[in-house]
Amino acid sequence: MPPKVVTQVKQLFTNGEKSKILVIGGTGYIGKFIVEASAKAGRSTFALVRDQTTVSDPSKAKLIDSFKTHGVTLIQGDIYDHNNLVKAIKKVDIVISAVGPVQISDQVKIIDAIKEAGNVKTFLPSEFGLDVDRSAVVEPAASSFKLKANIRRLIEAAGIPYTYVVSYGGLRYFLHNLGQLNAASPPRDKVTILGDGNPKAIFVDEEDTATYTIKAVEDPRTLNKNLYLRTPANTLSFNEIVSLWEKKIGNPLDKIYILEDQLLKQIQESSFPLNLLLSLCHSVFLKEDATSFEVQASFGVEASELYPEVKYTTIKEYLDSLV
Ligand SMILES: NC(=O)c1ccc[n+]([C@@H]2O[C@H](COP(=O)([O-])OP(=O)(O)OC[C@H]3O[C@@H](n4cnc5c(N)ncnc54)[C@H](OP(=O)(O)O)[C@@H]3O)[C@@H](O)[C@H]2O)c1
Repeated sequence: MPPKVVTQVKQLFTNGEKSKILVIGGTGYIGKFIVEASAKAGRSTFALVRDQTTVSDPSKAKLIDSFKTHGVTLIQGDIYDHNNLVKAIKKVDIVISAVGPVQISDQVKIIDAIKEAGNVKTFLPSEFGLDVDRSAVVEPAASSFKLKANIRRLIEAAGIPYTYVVSYGGLRYFLHNLGQLNAASPPRDKVTILGDGNPKAIFVDEEDTATYTIKAVEDPRTLNKNLYLRTPANTLSFNEIVSLWEKKIGNPLDKIYILEDQLLKQIQESSFPLNLLLSLCHSVFLKEDATSFEVQASFGVEASELYPEVKYTTIKEYLDSLV
């Protein structure tokens, strides 16, 4: 973005008025936490909801009711309905997308609508994972990372102010079963460890991801930057996580180590979504992609340093809740 535009956007951030937030994909796994965090932070919060949302999943009716209770304004819409999308975007200042893996490339529709609306101070596209520009992923995760990276490039080319939230693994998503992908609960007797278990990984509770995201939306320090959620207490190797769990349950686990060749073969032989999850695990647990580079001021900021007041859930605390 040209320096003059950056200055104008910074002025917009500091004029004292709290920005209005539109969440697209607010009824999804990650999106619901963001809508709730925004409303709880006292933000004027709007959620774009599809007509068929409750039809496709009746349990979402409850979620939508809870949005209403929290004072969220619901807007019927769809990213494929351009005119309605532009109208919705014109009502707000900040757009957060949490659309799912299937709609990542179609966020181009949101970009087009933001360009036409012309009023958006910051756009946060659907990221909420590893840094897609700085990861050594194998397929099929490589293709999905490319889609997210393409969306980043389109946002930058359009001169839309942005923040990319790099929130790493969801604590509940990946550790409810201690990373044992086919299990419903954490292991009590044996555990599978991908690689040697030594690379440092990061897991952030989904509610904390949402809290940091909402904190960042109006912060000039995050403007046109990656926001890394490298919460120190949650930066642990898999061996360290297993050892925490063993202490909590009071007995050691048998350990089965999966070598890289075995894992790559397993990825090739699995079908979606297991192959995607395994390729993400390959990136985190074998290639150390979460922590393999330093965050440089030129491209990123670290959330727990910017917002030390956030008391995030630690892996240790989360494991307590599973015992
Ligand atoms: N770090 C992690 O551990 C982790 C875990 C999961 C996801 N993620 C990331 O988080 C992001 C969100 O993924 P998710 O799993 O939360 O997604 P999800 O559960 O599949 O939810 C997708 C959301 O997009 C909405 N949507 C779908 N089509 C739409 C359309 N045409 N117009 C408007 N909205 C539409 C859905 O609405 P309906 O309710 O109407 O279907 C839903 O609200 C992705 O980037 C994903 O990679 C990260």
